[in-house]
Amino acid sequence: MLSYINNKFCPLDKAYISVNDRGYQFGDAVYEVILYKNGKFLDLEGHLNRLRKSMSRIDFELNISDSAIKTIMKRLVYENDLQFGSIYIQVSRGEYSRDHSYFNMPLKPILVILTKKIKENFKTSVPGIKVFTTSDMRWKNPDIKTTQLLPNVLAKTKGMKNGYGEALFLDDKSYVTEGSSSNFWILNKDNVLITRSLDGKILAGITRESILNCAKEKNIKVIEKNISLRDIQSCNEAFITSASSFVTPVVQVDGMIINNGKVGSFSKLLRKTYLELNE
Ligand code: PDD
Repeated sequence: MLSYINNKFCPLDKAYISVNDRGYQFGDAVYEVILYKNGKFLDLEGHLNRLRKSMSRIDFELNISDSAIKTIMKRLVYENDLQFGSIYIQVSRGEYSRDHSYFNMPLKPILVILTKKIKENFKTSVPGIKVFTTSDMRWKNPDIKTTQLLPNVLAKTKGMKNGYGEALFLDDKSYVTEGSSSNFWILNKDNVLITRSLDGKILAGITRESILNCAKEKNIKVIEKNISLRDIQSCNEAFITSASSFVTPVVQVDGMIINNGKVGSFSKLLRKTYLELNE
């Protein structure tokens, strides 16, 4: 497996990062996950734009153009013989003797690009998952896609140990913010699609944006607003979206069974449409 690390292509088992890398020591890094499907990087521009935005929000920039990043990605998928999979891009602030403040440090951001292979094509139809809710313990800027993911990692793992496919974070008023690595949606009892607005409490998902556009094109009514547990209890369908789950139906939230525990036709259609959109 070939990877790209700090200006060089190198085999994955030789791809090392300094122990003084600020991403390693402080989570002082940002990242993106991009799907690759049969010659196409899904929503590529959106992901690269968000990567730049995340860097600018935490006060650094990368002196490598988007077209150079794309060239590196293309070489990696070619050399790694990837047909279906994902690309992981991480940029840390750089490497220097450990100190909290980076003021006046001579830092050069470190770009890492890895690929992950998926053996078969993404399935258009999947079973629904159960999710559980838990308090949102993250910092106050979850709209920045940083590698500081400890609350996400702990919540997801707790869920997995108990048979849940995702953890849904609840804000201090018990409204859903988002999943540990996904955005959350419901189709309410009037068949209106609802997802939380970009109020700074969630990541502006690139898949979320694509699904919003998809819905608008199909004249499906969408409202961006807070989702309560009561809304979930009475909803027709629920699902999560992300670059790794695309559209994944949710059939249970805590003890609440949605659509009699069956994957709804709307979620099914949306997943299929999203994947076909990217054929
Ligand atoms: N996570 N919210 C959170 C907290 C996320 O981590 C993600 C994605 C999303 C969905 O964003 P997008 O549609 O742009 O993938 C929402 C990626 C997949 C990850 O951390 O692996």
